[in-house]
Amino acid sequence: EPHFVAVREIVSRLAAQEGALLPILHEVQHALGFIPKEVVGVIADGLNLSRAEVHGVITYYHHFRSEPAGRHVLEVCRAESCQAMGSEAMWQHACYALGLPAEGGTASGGGITLQPVYCLGLCAMSPAAMLDGKPHARLSVQRIDALIDRAVE
Ligand code: FES
Repeated sequence: EPHFVAVREIVSRLAAQEGALLPILHEVQHALGFIPKEVVGVIADGLNLSRAEVHGVITYYHHFRSEPAGRHVLEVCRAESCQAMGSEAMWQHACYALGLPAEGGTASGGGITLQPVYCLGLCAMSPAAMLDGKPHARLSVQRIDALIDRAVE
């Protein structure tokens, strides 16, 4: 199983450092695009943690994914400054438009992943989002719709 080889290599390289769990999770997600459920045990064993502890950290940080992302990734900022400028309505609209539950996820047969992000450093131009790594600022429900349309067409 190639997943396991890559993950074992990452774990053995980083396990000795202080607070190794987060850097390991970042590297695994970077290498595989997500953190498959079946590698949680490999990470836990390598760090002498329980699977529940590792799973808890993966679910706590919105950045980490347990499923592969869609072909496009739309990250909508839900932090304070964007919230004050209406990002919650945009978020809810995006979930609704994509037929996703309130916490987002992957829609359109793997075409697009909607996920929250907590500050993109664009607070002065709130509300903001990022589509496939490209920032978009001063958004509105209409502009989010246009981004989604472009991504899923
Ligand atoms: Fe959204 Fe900073 S709070 S970009």
